[in-house]
Amino acid sequence: MRITAPSSLVGQLTVPGDKSISHRASILASIARGKSVIRGYAPGADCASTLRCLAQLGAGIQRNEDTIIIEGRGQLLEPADVLDCGNSGTSMRLLAGVLAAQPFMSVLSGDSSLRSRPMRRVAVPLRLMGAQIYGRQDGALAPVVVLGGVLHPLKDYRLPVASAQVKSCILLAGLFTTGQTSVVEPSRTRDHTERLLPDFGGSITVDGDAGGLITIRGSQHLVGADVTVPGDISSAAFWLVAGAIVPHGDVTVTGVGINPLRSGFLAVLQRMGCRLEVFSRNGGGEPVADIRTRNSNLSGTEIGPDEIPTLIDELPILAVAAALAGGRTVIRGAAELRHKETDRIAAIVNNLRQMGVDAEETPDGFVLEGSGGKPLRGARITTYRDHRIAMAFAVAGLAARDETVLDDTDCVEVSYPGFVASLQSAIGTGTLR
Ligand code: S3P
Repeated sequence: MRITAPSSLVGQLTVPGDKSISHRASILASIARGKSVIRGYAPGADCASTLRCLAQLGAGIQRNEDTIIIEGRGQLLEPADVLDCGNSGTSMRLLAGVLAAQPFMSVLSGDSSLRSRPMRRVAVPLRLMGAQIYGRQDGALAPVVVLGGVLHPLKDYRLPVASAQVKSCILLAGLFTTGQTSVVEPSRTRDHTERLLPDFGGSITVDGDAGGLITIRGSQHLVGADVTVPGDISSAAFWLVAGAIVPHGDVTVTGVGINPLRSGFLAVLQRMGCRLEVFSRNGGGEPVADIRTRNSNLSGTEIGPDEIPTLIDELPILAVAAALAGGRTVIRGAAELRHKETDRIAAIVNNLRQMGVDAEETPDGFVLEGSGGKPLRGARITTYRDHRIAMAFAVAGLAARDETVLDDTDCVEVSYPGFVASLQSAIGTGTLR
């Protein structure tokens, strides 16, 4: 895809439904009994992978565009084939938790990226609960074989990494035990599972004062629910940064989920001096807002370990904002970025350098000197087939002189199928829709 900078960027748009919430809503609906209706379900390939796996496990699923109807039978069935999670780490790790408690064998696999991502982080706690988990390198890598059965509750399990996927995996497994399972987080991570459970008639307690102690009771009987999924802040982030860095930018994204454990990105943009407005709307279990950004003189910033879990997926696009800011930006405590769809620290730094930015990797982050508002240099960008790297550097191309060329845009289908159409509109007309 070839990208040239528009002379302005104005518009209002919605983005796809939140990916993290969509995965969780469809999984909970499938283990519940009765009918669930999920509106605004994320349209990308990742959440489609979860639905496909759930259908193989016996859930009755109908899809009408972004509305999903799931008939939960309160019981899953042994799948007749490998469960293919595609590129989706959330599908694999959350489903592993559910499958560990089922009286049958299942095999979870995925594409080459997913088969190289760490799975020991879920194998270890699930084994402690009594499940038999096998995978390459002693359970470290998929394909993962899950021999499910009766699980024991896990008490005060300290997560070795701040990961909402691992936390949710254990909580889902805990639902099928006969006692109380509790998880302690090193720093708090997105709490969509915790917020959704009561909608399905479940209960869970969260003690924020204890630094994030989450307790779930086993043997709960979930019932079908109606869920409306807000727009994905991780997708909105690309256009919000575009609004801030393109000359005369003025962009509004409507109906975005602003869960406080997901919206660190907004706090950082504000700290960088972005003209940003948040208009809150009435939401359900998750707070929702319309968010506007305008072209701004940004300054560099420091992002440290405490903030990282609240903006982990937004670091590629925050790096692009920082590349156009005045002064230095330092990212620390983000080693987890090396275990995403690709090594995102290397991908960000390599591509920033291609665009003329002075950037250095560190073991757990990176350091860069911003251009102070001067356009970046158009370049050939390697996406590493990672959707967020592709979209972040497409936006960088909107603020670059000369042409920027992305080697692949198919990968954006993973989370944001409409992205390329909106990008084309931005390039061609300076209008976002
Ligand atoms: C997610 C949690 C994060 C995030 C991922 C989605 C989730 O991963 O990067 O895109 O839905 O729980 P980790 O939990 O591995 O940090």
